[in-house]
Amino acid sequence: MASRSLYRAAANKRILSAVPRSARCYSAAKGPADQASSGPKVSEPASDAETHFGFQTVKESLKASKVHDVFSSVAASYDTMNDVMSFGIHRLWKDHFVRSLDPGRKPGGQPLQILDVAGGTGDIAFRMLDNAAKVHHDFETSVIVADINGDMLREGEKRAVATGYLPSNRISFREEDAETLNSVPDNSIDLYTISFGIRNVTRINEALKSAYRVLKPGGVFACMEFSKVSPAPLDAVYQQYSFSIIPLMGQLVAGDRDSYQYLVESIKRFPSQQEFAQMIRDAGFLTAGRGYDELTFGVASVWKGIKPLEVAKK
Ligand SMILES: C[S@@+](CC[C@H](N)C(=O)[O-])C[C@H]1O[C@@H](n2cnc3c(N)ncnc32)[C@H](O)[C@@H]1O
Repeated sequence: MASRSLYRAAANKRILSAVPRSARCYSAAKGPADQASSGPKVSEPASDAETHFGFQTVKESLKASKVHDVFSSVAASYDTMNDVMSFGIHRLWKDHFVRSLDPGRKPGGQPLQILDVAGGTGDIAFRMLDNAAKVHHDFETSVIVADINGDMLREGEKRAVATGYLPSNRISFREEDAETLNSVPDNSIDLYTISFGIRNVTRINEALKSAYRVLKPGGVFACMEFSKVSPAPLDAVYQQYSFSIIPLMGQLVAGDRDSYQYLVESIKRFPSQQEFAQMIRDAGFLTAGRGYDELTFGVASVWKGIKPLEVAKK
């Protein structure tokens, strides 16, 4: 027992000491460029239970920093690699995801407060603001892009400057762990999105709990993630492509084979469409039908849930 808690204390200390103090007490009012973050924002003591990092088994307390290293390494080439690996299809999925949510103020309604978790370089956030403006003539709906990795956020911030969304109060960037979302008040968000982020989170159930906490009653949870491909012959081709070509492309285009090896392994480890839909329901969300829609033979899927207006009494 004593050695377990000693290990836990040592592991936590190792992570926290890798995180600059400025990054640990990140202010919501500041952009990521204002701080020199080089480690994950670990806001709670992690346990020493085991989890997976791709195909490796690692201590839970170490996973966040390993994931952080992956995304710091790919941040500058992330957008290019997405296009190369998916032949640009990720753009169609993201367009579809946002169109299906159709964010923006509806007649007689209020502007929305959107939270895009694991928002990275802002791909989803920009699309949502564009949708609000172009479809609903809504220039007040705003998005918080929350991500555990300051390097990814900095890339997003550069894009926000280039697209003219910064400076404006329609978009802000925060370094936050999906598991805790410490700076986001309870019942404050109309729409929570997480796109290709949830599989990287150490404790997915904690992230779902936080999503439920921050959403207003009636608020929408929407997640897009890689999923299981069917039929089986197509899956065989997909697995071959994933494991032989993607790490090689990572090496050739981004000079980083290992991060892309992690990427394909983490996709393989993610629960099935049905299992993840059940986790969403277990977190308290209501889902329609089976709770998800598949894109491109299940290469990716979109899950949606609604936080009930009233919690049923047991
Ligand atoms: C594959 S990228 C997705 C970026 C963007 N949402 C998109 O669709 O292009 C995954 C992102 O998840 C972030 N991430 C990983 N673990 C996280 C966590 N626990 N909390 C918040 N973000 C996390 C990474 O830093 C990275 O930016």
